[in-house]
Parts: sequence; structure tokens; C-alpha cells
Amino acid sequence: MYSEKGKYTVEVCFSPLSWPLFEKENAVIILTDIFRATTSICAAFQNKVKSIIPVAEILESIAYKEKGYIVSGERDGKKLDCAEFGNSPFNFMEPRLQGKTVVMNTTNGTQAMKMVQKGNNLVGIGAFLNLDAICNWAMQQKRPVIVFCAGWKNRFSLEDTLFAGAAVNYILKNGKGDFHTMCDSAIASVDIWHQARINPRAYIEKAAHRHRLKKMGLDDILDYSMQLNINQCIPVLVDEEIVDMG
Ligand code: MLT
Repeated sequence: MYSEKGKYTVEVCFSPLSWPLFEKENAVIILTDIFRATTSICAAFQNKVKSIIPVAEILESIAYKEKGYIVSGERDGKKLDCAEFGNSPFNFMEPRLQGKTVVMNTTNGTQAMKMVQKGNNLVGIGAFLNLDAICNWAMQQKRPVIVFCAGWKNRFSLEDTLFAGAAVNYILKNGKGDFHTMCDSAIASVDIWHQARINPRAYIEKAAHRHRLKKMGLDDILDYSMQLNINQCIPVLVDEEIVDMG
């Protein structure tokens, strides 16, 4: 898998803390936070939500609420007091949200989105639900690709890494020789994906956040979140908003 041939690199950043080591200003970033922010964004666009505004600070969510926006969000899984609903993908499937903009504020995912939006970077949102669609979009941009795992409070996360492995595997296989990797975190992610790919849903029982969600009674989203390619959305951060380019 290690190769120096192919015009563009593919790398995986395991944690926001490692971002300064990977940071580029003309890359495509596929940002993932499988449980649950990026899965919820894909669910929202499948439900024809118009756009999502990611914010990092609770005061920003309150300010948007005062302006009349629909506000969602959580900290450590618990719904924010200022939010109408938390961060379950099922929250974003309500018909009343169709055509609306929703402000989202989460523990790790939206913080990571703010962090990577620098220079000329293009930021796409990836989940198992839209795996092939977001990878095809990333390849079409003809730039280096970095899969950015939002992780959990700067720690490595198994579910995000599993997605990263699936994405790197797809891009190296389908990139027509344009892409290569010399990145050990990308190679390790693909190895994990190969171990799990027969049954990703069973593999993810090992993940810490799966158990955090279970303790909070929020793990009803597991089967939904681990489905591959049920959604063709291509959520991309454009200025302050995420819109569906699919
Ligand atoms: C996050 O962004 O931290 C997550 O998506 C947390 C969650 O909703 O469980």
C-alpha cells in the first residue's frame, strides 16, 4: 500500500491535537465524527435540510437562537439547554426541518470543522452513510486528501479511524493512480478497515464512544450509523455553512 507514485498524497489525522502536523492550505479534508455529528449531517441532508451552521461556542448557539434560528447541540452527549434537540441523526429527520437552516454545536465534531477551515482548504463531511459519494467528490478536486478524525476530546477514536480506513482504501483503489500514501496512520486505518469490513457493525462494539452512548441511552443510532452508502449527499463547508453539493 505504501507508494510514492501518484500525484496527490492521502493522509489520516487521528486527532485534532495532531492537526498541526498535517495542516495544509490547499488540501481536501474529509472530516468525520461517526458518533454522531457527521452521521447526523448526512441524515439532515437526506431529509432535505437546507444548510447546517457549525459553531464551537455555546454563546454562539445562544446568539443564533436569539436571531430565530433552529439550534441543535450537545456536550458529552447531553442536549444543550439552549438547543431544541441534541445530536441524534434521528433528530434531523423531522419533516419540519426540510428547507430550514439548523445551527449545530457538538463536543468534538463542530469544533474540528472550525479548526480545519483555513486557507484554500476544501472541507467535506464524511460518514459511512455517504462514503463513496464524499470520496468521489474528494478525488475530483485533484488535491492532496486528508481524512480528519474528530476523535473524542483529542483522543483516538475507533469509529472515526474505521471510516478513515474505508475512505483511504476507496480512494487508493479508485483514484486511477492519481493518489498515493506514505502515511502510517493511513496505512494503519486501512488495516483496521480490512479487519472490520465483513461486519463493521459488529466490530464497532469495541469502540469506547459506543459504550458512552449506551450508558446514556443514546445508542439507538448504531445500526443506522454503520450502514454503507445509503445516502448520496456531499456536505461541504462553504464559508460559515455546510451545504449539500450532491
Ligand atoms: C461530537 O461532535 O462530539 C459528537 O458527535 C458527540 C455525540 O453526539 O455523541
